[in-house]
Amino acid sequence: MEKITLPKGTKDIGDPEIFIWYHVENIVRLEAAHYHYIELRTPLFEHTELFARGVGEETDIVQKEMYTFLDKGGRSVTLRPEGTAPVMRSYLEQSFHIHNPRMKYFYMGPMFRYERPQAGRMRQFHQFGFEAIGFQSPAADAEIILLADRIYKKIGLKNIRLEINSLGCRKCKPQYLETLKNYLRNQAAQFCKNCSNRIETNPLRVLDCKNESCQNILHNESFPIIQNFLCDECRTHQNHLIGILESAQIHPVINPYLVRGLDYYIKTTFEMKTEELGAQNAIGGGGRYDNLSDALGVKGIPGVGFAAGMERIILLLQKQSESKAFFQKPFIYLSPLDQQGENVLLKLSIVLDEKSIPFYLDFSDKSLKYHFKNAQRMDASFIIIAGENEHQTKTYTLKNLLSGEQKVVSQKTLIGDLLEAYQNVKNT
Ligand code: HAM
Repeated sequence: MEKITLPKGTKDIGDPEIFIWYHVENIVRLEAAHYHYIELRTPLFEHTELFARGVGEETDIVQKEMYTFLDKGGRSVTLRPEGTAPVMRSYLEQSFHIHNPRMKYFYMGPMFRYERPQAGRMRQFHQFGFEAIGFQSPAADAEIILLADRIYKKIGLKNIRLEINSLGCRKCKPQYLETLKNYLRNQAAQFCKNCSNRIETNPLRVLDCKNESCQNILHNESFPIIQNFLCDECRTHQNHLIGILESAQIHPVINPYLVRGLDYYIKTTFEMKTEELGAQNAIGGGGRYDNLSDALGVKGIPGVGFAAGMERIILLLQKQSESKAFFQKPFIYLSPLDQQGENVLLKLSIVLDEKSIPFYLDFSDKSLKYHFKNAQRMDASFIIIAGENEHQTKTYTLKNLLSGEQKVVSQKTLIGDLLEAYQNVKNT
């Protein structure tokens, strides 16, 4: 029979890469706790309508990328392609807008989009995200960006560019869209097929097109950019946000072409980008979505948030740092020579666990040579060998794999010796 392989666009994450994931996840959880954003775990699938209405019928996500199917009860459900609409759904469903309208959430987990897979673009990928719901102030936008910046820095990422834009609000966006459509209609023949189709349905998405001839038209001097259409309220909001960021030594670049692929944004949008990952250069993005609650049936709940792609962060971290630094290794490799040795070392492992000393216990059906090689491969600091003899004499053979020193130690003194050695290794 043929072997069964992974579905395209998915991957197994295990030894050694998983240690980098732990590093990232630990920092995200810690920062969420510092800023008091509370974790919300929403289901992996939702009613399809949530994303159709929340993310927007005309978006690529809804039109082309969703994993949608009928369940056995004939209901249309969708594997979540993103986390913001589910968070807002949960907030509204639990009537927080009535009882406790100001909520700060964080989430971390898999998302699903049927995209063409390539490095940094997966069909099952992972995001961590933060959402502040119920806050109008641009200071909330600033907190979200600051939090993202803190996390990227603590993870150890370098050379990240923050781009921001404003998409205007209910007052100024319609006028911009009309001007944009007129401009695009006049040039329709020169755009790619995709863009010409979008002029009437979702003209903002034309700004995202990577096609060279479309880019040339978009970067023409006469092209109308949203920044020139912002109303006083939107301009003040943006200036206030930039002022706070600048005072925190974060220097955003205004990119008037940054429109993002989800329809719920108004006012602030932003993206964190890197030059080191080729085409998949966004390692996070977000913005303000004061219209999302309207699309889900409750008027006027403001919100702002961001989400980051874990796979892209890990790829970048692998490029920028020594991956080995994140590996967790066993301090002691336990090598039993026979069944008696196994019994002795299993008991010892319980004591090591109580003292929080990391160990790896192998079993006795391999040669001593194999165990030494394996212990070195795992980068253990010590190896303990035990068999019938050690069981009789109540001793262990302990070898320091770094210095080569080998000695026989009594069961009584072993733990004290190891604890001291472990503390020394931890402190260096
Ligand atoms: P998004 O820009 O669609 O925004 O996704 C956020 C991040 O997820 C991207 O910047 C990228 O790093 C990662 N990402 C997206 N698609 C893939 C993929 N196919 N493979 C690997 N990584 C991917 C959102 O999802 C919004 N919900 C963000 C947000 C939160 N806005 C407000 N609050």
